[in-house]
Amino acid sequence: MARTRYAHVGTGMRSNMYRGAMSDNHKHHAELVAICDKNPARMELYNKHLAESGMPTVPTYAPEQFEQMVVETRPERVIVTSGPDATHSEYICRAMEAGCDVITEKPMTVDAGSCRRILETRARTGRQVQVTFNYRYAPPRSQIKEMILDGAIGDILSVNFTWLLDTRHGADYFRRWHRRRENSGSLLVHKATHHFDLVNWWVDDWPEEVFCHGSLKYYTPATAERLGLSDHADRCLDCPVMDRCPFAMNLAENEWLKKMYLDPEPQDGYQRDKCVFADEIDIWDTMSVTARYQRGALLTYQLHAYSPWEGYHVAFNGTRGRIEHHACENTYISGDGTVPGELEKHNVSITYTPEFAKPQSIEPRTGSGGHGGGDPLLQADIFDPDAPSDRLRRKAFHTDGAYSILVGVAAYTSIDTGQPVTIADLLGGAPIE
Ligand SMILES: NC(=O)c1ccc[n+]([C@@H]2O[C@H](COP(=O)([O-])OP(=O)(O)OC[C@H]3O[C@@H](n4cnc5c(N)ncnc54)[C@H](O)[C@@H]3O)[C@@H](O)[C@H]2O)c1
Repeated sequence: MARTRYAHVGTGMRSNMYRGAMSDNHKHHAELVAICDKNPARMELYNKHLAESGMPTVPTYAPEQFEQMVVETRPERVIVTSGPDATHSEYICRAMEAGCDVITEKPMTVDAGSCRRILETRARTGRQVQVTFNYRYAPPRSQIKEMILDGAIGDILSVNFTWLLDTRHGADYFRRWHRRRENSGSLLVHKATHHFDLVNWWVDDWPEEVFCHGSLKYYTPATAERLGLSDHADRCLDCPVMDRCPFAMNLAENEWLKKMYLDPEPQDGYQRDKCVFADEIDIWDTMSVTARYQRGALLTYQLHAYSPWEGYHVAFNGTRGRIEHHACENTYISGDGTVPGELEKHNVSITYTPEFAKPQSIEPRTGSGGHGGGDPLLQADIFDPDAPSDRLRRKAFHTDGAYSILVGVAAYTSIDTGQPVTIADLLGGAPIE
């Protein structure tokens, strides 16, 4: 069988999931032909990992050589896993202009202007943009989708969703590029794109109007003072209070983090271990969103990034009953050896209460692998041309990518203006379907 030719942009931590699939269980479907990154040392590391898994190494290209890469290596599809998130839209559009289909990590982009540009370029070129929402594939979340699809609670009238990031995982977004809104669109886009996508997919509708409050009250100099850490440095590596700081990250001691970030640092100055109490942080650590959907369902959503435990609670109120789903997640920091976002098997529950009846406990489905067992299923949906058709419609495209980020963009715009924001205004007539 002819393999599909892939180029891969962005060779940081998340690229491992794609490289791993193309070197292992999907090597008969995918042929990697080139990589592109602004850091040559990280591309060298990527090639080293390819060689270690018995795969041929591939030519490397700098960002400005992207079009040259496409001409010389003739990829059919381009995988975008660059970070900051704000770099995605440029590569998504350049790839489509060069005649390639795109697979992009979430968030598809971080603001309304670049979102419109992606939608317009896609409509004009007729290319495909797949957005890899791995959260949909976690077994209990797919199970909820199935229950809703099968009519267990009738029409959904409201959703109440709380997501908690703990002081280990949550803190990691305040250490590096995510902590500036221009890079990540804040956690309302970077992180909540997953959550808003889940809601859009679960209720099978699109958001219409959004209002939001946000605050930054934990990852602040005041917290450093409360914890007796005021004499901290700008980064952990040379910090005098590292031994006492509960947020300290030792890049030199972790083999993965050292190879991926500390060793390549001289080439681009990317510091992975900046202090979480820095003044330059301009994202929120506490966010409270309310949204209305096109068919009238109402959403309340909360996200905070300094919880003692990590996980989520979501409840759906329908015309014929209620579903509540609760889950704790193992927490991790990319590259420290733990499995990202694995659900704690004994701390996941689904409660179903039909109209006029008693609550029933439903056994949650389980899976293994990254992101609650979602990553292996997602890999098949990306690379396997014969992946079975899916009645849950987990494979996501530009429309899903756009609506999920636009809730976040509307939310941060609402924080700025104090006013509700309509999604149609952000779209400005761009071709979304
Ligand atoms: N789906 C998930 O659960 C999940 C998990 C982690 C990360 N992600 C996403 O994956 C992406 C990468 O995250 P990461 O943790 O690997 O980040 P990272 O910082 O580890 O890696 C980003 C890579 O992009 C490169 N880069 C930076 N600017 C570039 C440019 N202009 N052109 C080309 N390359 C550039 C960097 O040198 C680095 O190699 C992000 O968009 C993030 O949101 C998704």
